[in-house]
Amino acid sequence: MTGTTNSYILVTGGAGYIGSHTVVELINHGYNVVIVDNLSNSSYDAVSRVEYIVKKPVPFFNVDLRDSEKLGKVFEQYDISGVIHFAALKAVGESTHIPLKYYDNNVNGTIKLLETMAAHKVKTIVFSSSATVYGDVTRFKDMIPIPEHCPNDPTNPYGKTKYVIENILHDIYNADTTWKSAILRYFNPIGAHPSGLIGEDPLGIPNNLLPYLAQVAIGRREKLSIFGNDYDSHDGTPIRDYIHVVDLAKGHIAALEYLNNVTEGAGLFREWNLGTGKGSTVFDVYHAFCKAVGHELPYEVVGRRDGDVLDLTANATRANTELKWSAEKNIDDACRDLWKWTTDNPKGYAVAGYQWTTLAGTDGDYTSRVHTVTKDDLSVSFLNYGASIQKVEFKNQNLVCGLDTLDEYKSQDIYLGATVGRYANRIANGQFEINGETVKLDKNNGENSLHGGSNGFNKQNFLGPIVKRSADEENLILQFVLVDKAGANGFPGELIAAVEYTVGNDFVEVEYSATTDASGTPVNLTNHSYWNLAGNKSTIDGTQVKLATSKALEVDPNTLIPTGNVSTLDISNLDGKVDNCLIVRESSQINTSSESLVEVLEASHPDSTLVLRVETTEPSFQLYTGDYVDIPGKFGPRCGFCVEPGRLINAVNVEKWKQLVLLDNKSTYGSRTRYSFKLKN
Ligand code: NAD
Ligand code: UD1
Repeated sequence: MTGTTNSYILVTGGAGYIGSHTVVELINHGYNVVIVDNLSNSSYDAVSRVEYIVKKPVPFFNVDLRDSEKLGKVFEQYDISGVIHFAALKAVGESTHIPLKYYDNNVNGTIKLLETMAAHKVKTIVFSSSATVYGDVTRFKDMIPIPEHCPNDPTNPYGKTKYVIENILHDIYNADTTWKSAILRYFNPIGAHPSGLIGEDPLGIPNNLLPYLAQVAIGRREKLSIFGNDYDSHDGTPIRDYIHVVDLAKGHIAALEYLNNVTEGAGLFREWNLGTGKGSTVFDVYHAFCKAVGHELPYEVVGRRDGDVLDLTANATRANTELKWSAEKNIDDACRDLWKWTTDNPKGYAVAGYQWTTLAGTDGDYTSRVHTVTKDDLSVSFLNYGASIQKVEFKNQNLVCGLDTLDEYKSQDIYLGATVGRYANRIANGQFEINGETVKLDKNNGENSLHGGSNGFNKQNFLGPIVKRSADEENLILQFVLVDKAGANGFPGELIAAVEYTVGNDFVEVEYSATTDASGTPVNLTNHSYWNLAGNKSTIDGTQVKLATSKALEVDPNTLIPTGNVSTLDISNLDGKVDNCLIVRESSQINTSSESLVEVLEASHPDSTLVLRVETTEPSFQLYTGDYVDIPGKFGPRCGFCVEPGRLINAVNVEKWKQLVLLDNKSTYGSRTRYSFKLKN
């Protein structure tokens, strides 16, 4: 790792194809990253998936490089030590039709960036150039594989913008030799991140070979057109140097480290080819991809494409020796990873039935967005903030209490719709014993610790979500993740907590899972939605319930901690105050996810045609009527009732229940709860 703890690398175009992969590698190498992208050819989903992969927030600014004022603010806000500059328009064909737009975006955008860098005394830049600057290298006799000293002669406006920018960087260095510029000339980047979470998401009809082939493979295009088989190669198709995008991304780290190692006070201007040094023909790539897919794909050989040349293979020796970098993956790896990306994301980052917006009042802040999925009669909205459920609308009736702005969410302390963690419900005296030692937690409820302490999961921005369709295409799945640091609210060990929502046409199911690096830490996760079936009424009065159990934990009325006794409660309506832990079964385990869902509650209201059913794999659930809610102008007492499946109250301090909640570094915590909706019979 070379990144220092406080300084940042600014990645322009970091939401794009190569940028997003590079951000992952930068963070994996210990760098802090801030992204600037105007999303003209990308979507924020790429950034949110990068965050999910690296399990860290990555600051993002939707800023056009040509907007010096906004760009300057990013430099003011972050201590930027260097820039990796991807942001550009990149379609060769398009550039021949709208050259001015290309010069303005690419060249002018870079000038504004360099001016801003200079104004903030940032003089380190890694620039995305392209092999396209070499032009048609077959004009020389012996220039393939292509070395960096090959004369430049780009043949299209896009390539010329790269050529101009390289020259600008060279001139800046000549004028001030403390500038450090790495010019990286990419050959043909292909493939995707092995996780299948990020990849290339071309708009419209893809121009490039592999994105096109991928769309043929999933049935979005009929067949591949092979542009000529009469070239002088082993099978008649042209030769290119295809490089896996992850290898390419790593090349940027190598270049950055090389620049960082240049003698203090000195500068550098230097070009490096990033390629594998090995050429492959169109048919080589076609066969590799068919192998990844598992069957032959339709193609037709057509005439040559204008501007195509026989061979563009890199001589990558300079990067290999100076940067100590070389490509490690081959076209089979790239095809396998591209196929995973394609099958996991058949429409790229877009998912039918899903959309997101920023939460009102967040002013372009993407860290807490509203994610809405719609499935037939059901529409459910979730927030990053607390991985909360904001809205559940079934047959046009909203069934939960939700707020509109982030400030409203932040100012309430009733866990509205939120994920509750690390430890739902009370821990007596805010402490527990483990390995003979007493661990003291944040006491936020008199003498007790409640719902994870004063800075619990309900107040955290979860990363993600990854949104996808279930394997049978029927349901929509949203996956959020949170890394809760060791010591947060006093809890030992880091906890990685995942919240996965599945939305079907009449249900929303939540699955929790968590792992830790601690030898023992208590975990109890639940959801705190306030349900209200009473139509437009402001309270839940009149709500009728059927419970699967009448066994309840008796609690001390002052401390609300269990006495050890079990009492019997027959609850058939919510007209009075209820705040009880009802027991489905006392025996359980740390991971209940694989157990069958058991229906624990059915609720209805005379004024509504709808019925709510709650099923869970959990041994107990807290039923709570929200009698003290007070959100002025929004919600008052008894605005909703909560059904919070989880483990028994204070289990961590009760010998016979400890194993229900103590998670160690060899196990995974898990549970599932399903809320389903139907019309009354
Ligand atoms: P991409 O389009 O996926 O990424 C470029 C990103 O820059 C996009 O997210 C876009 O929204 C952003 N952007 C464009 N103009 C901007 C502006 N004015 N202000 C802020 N953001 C802006 O492309 P990519 O394939 O990831 O390419 C990244 C870089 O690598 C580009 O400079 C490209 O020319 C270069 N390159 C790409 C290839 C390739 O085959 N993909 C080959 C050689 C060089
Ligand atoms: C193109 C760009 C180049 C960019 C590179 C990487 C041009 C002229 N050059 O290079 O600037 O750096 O992409 O993204 O556009 N092919 C087919 N059928 C298809 C598509 C492509 O046979 O549908 C063939 C082409 O003839 C070529 C090879 O596949 O031989 C690769 O094509 P492509 O992916 O478009 O990349 P390049 O043309 O090499």
